[in-house]
Amino acid sequence: MKIIMLGAPGAGKGTQAKQIADKYSIPHISTGDIFRANLKAGTELGKKAKEYMDQGLLVPDELTCDLVMDRIGQDDCKNGFVLDGFPRTIPQAEALDAALAKISQSMDYAIDVDVPDENIVNRMSGRRACLNCGATYHIVSIPTKVEGVCDRCGNQVVLRDDDQPETVKKRLDVYHEQTQPLIDYYKKQNILKTVDGTQPMEKVFDAIVEILGA
Ligand code: AP5
Ligand code: ZN
Repeated sequence: MKIIMLGAPGAGKGTQAKQIADKYSIPHISTGDIFRANLKAGTELGKKAKEYMDQGLLVPDELTCDLVMDRIGQDDCKNGFVLDGFPRTIPQAEALDAALAKISQSMDYAIDVDVPDENIVNRMSGRRACLNCGATYHIVSIPTKVEGVCDRCGNQVVLRDDDQPETVKKRLDVYHEQTQPLIDYYKKQNILKTVDGTQPMEKVFDAIVEILGA
């Protein structure tokens, strides 16, 4: 099963993608996580990506596409994968389709996690992320057991640099301009499914399982 998670920044794509990956035993591929891991490791890619991420801008397609194509070509992706944060532009979507067409394949589902902008800014200001293991929390809806400490690995959890309110607003603008057109793109391919992302997380997941099959 090959799945794309669509949705605004903070809509809950990552939260749902992790659960989908567990339930259906497919890899979770998050371009944001890949960039943050590179940044932490001090690679050239990480340094370049940070320049864009900190401004709320998209990392250029030429840095992003090859990385994803390499990843989905790996052995563990043979039975499918869930893409979280990719594609984010029409050229990225076209590159993905072209790469899959070469091996006579295509995406199965594009799931749009729909959340209005008003809810987004709230969510992002409450999000806390572990930059060590990638776990995400929310100070109200998913608090850590010990305040400020990751349940999974014990590292400190922090507000991501790009979750500052001004940057969130810019990310939302960029989303509406560059990413939202993908909704029509996948509607035309007949693989778009929309779920109401304002519901509690478990309900959102139930709605997704209903689409994908138990
Ligand atoms: P990325 O890491 O992909 O950020 P994003 O798309 O902006 O998405 P987020 O991770 O912010 O949110 P999410 O939808 O996963 O929500 P989450 O589950 O965490 O990308 C970061 C940057 O990298 C980009 O800005 C760009 O610069 C660059 N980049 C990445 N991919 C790129 C690409 N393809 N091309 C170019 N550049 C790229 O949930 C948010 C919060 O809400 C959490 O605290 C969570 O606990 C809480 N929450 C989740 N669901 C619910 C719910 N149902 N109810 C209440 N709270 C909830
Ligand atoms: Zn952790």
